[in-house]
Amino acid sequence: MNTVHILYPEHIGTINPNIYGHFSEHIGGVFYDGIWVGEDSKVPNIHGFRKELVELFAKIKPPVLRWPGGCFAETYDWRDGIGPREKRPTTVNWWYNDDGRLESNQVGTHEFVEFCSLVGAKPCFAANATTTTPMEIRNWMEYCLFPEGSTTLAQLRGQNGSPAPFDIPYWGLGNENWGGGGNMTPEDYAAVYRKYAMVCDSVARSRAFVACGPNGNSLDWTRRFFQKLFDGLDGHPNNCKIDGYAVHYYCGTAGTATQFTKEQWYELLTKAAYMEDIIVQQRGVMDSYDPQRRIGMVVDEWGCWHQGGSGPSKGYNLFEQQSTMRDAVVAGMTLNIFNNHCDKVMMANVAQLVNNLHSLFLAGGDQLVATPNYYVFDMMKEHQGAGGLRTVVEAEQAGNIAQVSASASVKDGKTLVTLVNTSYDQEAEVRLALQGGGFAGDGELVCLSAKPDAYNTFEDPQAVRPVSSKVALNGSEAVVTLPAASVCCLRF
Ligand code: AHR
Repeated sequence: MNTVHILYPEHIGTINPNIYGHFSEHIGGVFYDGIWVGEDSKVPNIHGFRKELVELFAKIKPPVLRWPGGCFAETYDWRDGIGPREKRPTTVNWWYNDDGRLESNQVGTHEFVEFCSLVGAKPCFAANATTTTPMEIRNWMEYCLFPEGSTTLAQLRGQNGSPAPFDIPYWGLGNENWGGGGNMTPEDYAAVYRKYAMVCDSVARSRAFVACGPNGNSLDWTRRFFQKLFDGLDGHPNNCKIDGYAVHYYCGTAGTATQFTKEQWYELLTKAAYMEDIIVQQRGVMDSYDPQRRIGMVVDEWGCWHQGGSGPSKGYNLFEQQSTMRDAVVAGMTLNIFNNHCDKVMMANVAQLVNNLHSLFLAGGDQLVATPNYYVFDMMKEHQGAGGLRTVVEAEQAGNIAQVSASASVKDGKTLVTLVNTSYDQEAEVRLALQGGGFAGDGELVCLSAKPDAYNTFEDPQAVRPVSSKVALNGSEAVVTLPAASVCCLRF
C-alpha cells in the first residue's frame, strides 16, 4: 500500500499558471500544416489557424506559448515576418540541413500574437541573441510594445494592422547558447546577455527577460554564467535586468516512441524523475547569487525525445513522434514535480505543441488527433493559480522508482490531487491521509490509463482518453486504486 499525506497547513506557494506552458517553433510540421493551414485552406480555419486545434487548445487554458524557437530563433529576423504576407521573403530555416525545408514567414509577429489571443495564452518571445544585434531586438520590442502611433516603429505596426500595442510579457534573450545558439561559453553568453538586457531595458516597459540556462543540470554553466553576469555589478540582480533563467531538459531511451521494453519504461521514467534534482540543484546554485529569489526558474523546453518517424507524417515532419501512455505518465510526473516546487518554478513549456516532440496534437491535412499528453494537461489544468500543498509520499517501489508520484493544490475550498502510477503492469493502492483537512462528500476520480504503449491515431482518436468515476469520501482518509501506468486526478 502507498500512502500520500496531504498537508493542508503547509502551503508551498501559488502554482504559477505558466508552469502549464507550451512551446511552438518554426520547425518541421509545427506551424505549417500543424497550427497554420492558411486562410484559403479547405481545412476549417480561423484566419488561417486550424480551427479544431484552436478550440481544443483553448479548452485546456494554455497560460503561455513560447515562439518562434528554439534554435530557429537564433537565425530569425523578425522583419521577415511583418507586412503583407504575399510580399514576405522565403528564407532558409535554421533546420534546413535536417529536413531541407524553407521558411515562408507566413506566420510572423502579428499572426502569432493573434493565435495566442485565440487560445487565451500570453506570448513568450524567444529573441535572437546569436546572429543579430541588441539594437534589432530592441527595435522588435519597440515595434511590439510602444503605444499606438508613438514612434515610427509603433506606426509601422499600425500600418500592418495592429495599432494597439501587443501584450508580450516575456522575452527570452537567447536560446541554447551553449549549443545551437552560438556554441558560447557561459562567460561569452553572460557578456552577450548583459548587452542585450541593458540595451533592451529602455523599451521593454517592465516586461520580463529570461536568460538561457544550462543544458540539463550543468551546474558549471549556472555558476560560471552568474559569476560573470554580476561581475562588477555588486552582485545585485537589479543591476542587470534578469527575471527568469531557463533550463532545457529532454529525456529519451533506446527503443522508439511506440516500441519499448519494460526496462526502457522504467529507464525513461527514472530520467523524468530527475527533473526534481535539476530544479533543486539549479535553484541551489542560483540562490548563492540571488538569495532573495528575484530571478525565477524557467524550464522552457521539456519532454520526451524519442526517435522521429513514428508520427502520422512518417518522418516527413522533423522530430515528429507519437506520444503513448508512457509519455503521458512522464507529463503527469513532470507537472507534479513543478507543482511541488512551485516556490521555485515560474514557467515551464512542454516541447512542442503539435507534430513534434512530446506533442499534445498530431495533425495533417484535415485530420487532427489529441495525444494522451493533451489529456494530462486537461485533467491538471485546475492546478493553475491554486495553492500548492505539501504532499509526503510513502511509496512502494516500481522498477527502480517510487510507484506513486503526487501533487496537490487547493483553490476556493476545492482540492485537486494528481496521482501517477508509474508501474508498468501493477495497480497501485493509495491511502490518502489528509492532515489538517477533511473530505466533504463524494469526490470525482478521473483516470487516464491504457497499455503502456497505447496511443491515439486519426483512425482511433479515443484509444487513450480519461474516464471519470465517483468515489465515496468521508473523514480524513480514503483509499483509491490506480490502474497500472496511469495518471489520475481526484477532486473533492
Ligand atoms: O525542441 C527542438 C529543439 O530542441 C529546439 O529547437 C532546441 O532549443 C532544442 O535543442
